[in-house]
Amino acid sequence: MMGSAASTKVAYPPIPHRVMGHRGAAASAPENTLAGARQAFGEGARWIEFDVKLTADGVPVIFHDDRLDRVTSGHGLLADRTLVELRELDAGGWFGPQFQGELIPTLEEMLTLLASLGMGANIEIKPCPGRAVETARRSLDVARVHWPDFAPPLVVSSFDLIALAEARDVAPEWPMALLADGADGWTAETMVTKAGSLGCQGIHLDNALATKTCIAACGAAGFITAVWTVNSAVRADALWEWGVDAIISDRPGALLRDASSQTNFRE
Ligand code: G3P
Ligand code: MG
Repeated sequence: MMGSAASTKVAYPPIPHRVMGHRGAAASAPENTLAGARQAFGEGARWIEFDVKLTADGVPVIFHDDRLDRVTSGHGLLADRTLVELRELDAGGWFGPQFQGELIPTLEEMLTLLASLGMGANIEIKPCPGRAVETARRSLDVARVHWPDFAPPLVVSSFDLIALAEARDVAPEWPMALLADGADGWTAETMVTKAGSLGCQGIHLDNALATKTCIAACGAAGFITAVWTVNSAVRADALWEWGVDAIISDRPGALLRDASSQTNFRE
């Protein structure tokens, strides 16, 4: 049975191996594609983070930038294109010829694939300008229909405080995390206060903000912490030592292989 609206909040789930693939496995496959999700799975990750935006006709799709130019064969603003128009673009060839033909996935497609692989998901709501409320609402409506009850709860995150407030209202059952970017002037105190007022259970920090003191303060205030983007096993070990609950990495397989905290990893 697919997800039904539960009335009570579910706890932020434990992340297997304490590693999430970032945009899939962004160092080894085109970001935010189904190939990237499969790559992360192949590397041993059992959870990925990806970004969600809306097409011109209101369909949630997996994409990072406002513009199409960097990672597709197209140009201009994603928000100006319908799903049919976006599906004409190649979203893999820029990364390598073996990925040519990869499409911009819909959220429905991504969730269906992840559920079939037994993977978990961190949906980052990344609205195009002016579309925070509808991006949160439509994304979580789709997620509720297409994410099975037997799967672990989705983790919903965003930099956008309007999107988080909307997510809290439309999908109160799923755990949420505030995204704190190093460029935005966050302190441990402001993170904890804002995350608490929005009903978040997690704080996902930019690596630049992730000091031992800051991690300790977030943890002491009762928040689950995750740090992005960490691709070094040495850095990952230090963060885990400080009590970080999850690391979001472009190279999940390398962390699982090389970080000493992961020496018990077997798959
Ligand atoms: O969700 C963590 C991370 O993905 C936030 O930054 O720009 O990679 O979406 P960005
Ligand atoms: Mg992201």
